[in-house]
Amino acid sequence: MNSTPKKLFVRSYGCQMNVYDAQRMADALAPEGYVETASADDADLVILNTCHIREKAAEKVYSELGRMRELRTERKANGGGDLTIAVAGCVAQAEGAEIMKRARGVDLVVGPQSYHRLPDLLAKAKTGKVVDTDFPVEDKFAALPAASREKTLARGPAAFLTVQEGCDKFCTFCVVPYTRGAEVSRSVAQIVAEAERLADHGVREISLLGQNVNAFHGEGPDGKVWGLGRLLERIAKIPGVARLRYTTSHPRDMDDELIAAHRDLKELMPYLHLPVQSGSDRILGMMNRGHTAADYLKLIDRIRAAQPDLALSSDFITGFPGETDEDFEATMDLVRKVGFASTFSFKYSARPGTPAADMDAQVPEQVRSMRLYALQALLEEQRQAFNASCVGREMDVLFDRKGRHDGQVAGRSPYLQPVQVEADGIGIGDVVTVRILSNGTNSLFGEPVDTAARTNSRMEAVA
Ligand code: SAH
Ligand code: SF4
Ligand code: F3S
Repeated sequence: MNSTPKKLFVRSYGCQMNVYDAQRMADALAPEGYVETASADDADLVILNTCHIREKAAEKVYSELGRMRELRTERKANGGGDLTIAVAGCVAQAEGAEIMKRARGVDLVVGPQSYHRLPDLLAKAKTGKVVDTDFPVEDKFAALPAASREKTLARGPAAFLTVQEGCDKFCTFCVVPYTRGAEVSRSVAQIVAEAERLADHGVREISLLGQNVNAFHGEGPDGKVWGLGRLLERIAKIPGVARLRYTTSHPRDMDDELIAAHRDLKELMPYLHLPVQSGSDRILGMMNRGHTAADYLKLIDRIRAAQPDLALSSDFITGFPGETDEDFEATMDLVRKVGFASTFSFKYSARPGTPAADMDAQVPEQVRSMRLYALQALLEEQRQAFNASCVGREMDVLFDRKGRHDGQVAGRSPYLQPVQVEADGIGIGDVVTVRILSNGTNSLFGEPVDTAARTNSRMEAVA
């Protein structure tokens, strides 16, 4: 262990998997004497943990790298210490050494499968530029040190846990199979050990992560292959784990065991993010999604039969190559049929190296934008309708942070909505039953049911 603490700033872009990876990078560097800081300004090492999914996301990295280089120059001019600049994540994997050419000043490029080697790579970067975008044979997760209790506590009562990485689906628009590689599942024993440690350190909610999380097929303690349903059931048994979630799923991998888990596990939150991308069978075919709109609707019916109180979320792409007005209308139609609680929608972005980028009939930017605008208006209407339907209901909220104002605490509903409550005596990490009183633009507002009961009885006594 080095004696002088060095400061590390990691900025993550993209999906939750990157958020998890960023935490693990900090864990990997803690034994080297690195402590995390909230800004690049006083950091000795900055890691940009990047996303390659859409052009805009990838381009953002280069402007940020420009700023980091300026910061280093300024600091040197003022007689300050050095700043090491590293690029990690999916742009690192996709562009590798190209990044060094485009953004001079970068010291180190490290891919999503080799960041457990960060201590060695940083040592090497002292004498020259380093690029490591290997898919190593050694187990990254086994090589990573565990987070300390203090660090876990500081990260809050809701934690991410990656159980599966990579993707073999090859949707024609998507870079993930190239940036994250083939599907790999961690072993059940390794996952359970990590979940137990999280619970022991005060975590109440665990979100199991994977690019294709429901394709999970990890080795079980019995030597057999376990699916996600079975894994959830096992983790639900860990004392202290009050809530479980998983993301992101593919419609093709929702098996019976997983659907049954929605019926049987009270810890599994009644919320499911299940990307559909489009409601047109022709477009779904060209996307290589491997299902039709009717398959998706049937699947939703089956999951809702297992768990009637289910809030649905999804991802959509507008203006995929060849998408006609009719195809787009089919997407709108599917949205009207399902009714979504919250969603993510994007206009199609052609990504180098993906089959869709070379397809004929690319849709003009203006059309992609107009469709996105129309889709988002409908989705926002549905989101607001869902939030409005929660007013008057009682639901358990996991409180995970201070609220916007003094005396307010904030948390998440089972359906992932932010909930603000004004109440004394609620601590971070508490799960409290709350009556929802009103619906703001971005949050629900409520009061703890106990307090409400007390107030009412007091009022009755007065009357
Ligand atoms: N594994 C997940 C999601 C991965 S990426 C899944 O199977 O759905 C997250 C979302 O980004 C995707 O669901 C898709 O809606 C969107 N996306 C991916 N590639 C895109 C592209 N080239 N242009 C626009 N949106 C894209
Ligand atoms: Fe990308 Fe499709 Fe794999 Fe999701 S399932 S990560 S959209 S290729
Ligand atoms: Fe982006 Fe890579 Fe996640 S491309 S969405 S950071 S898997």
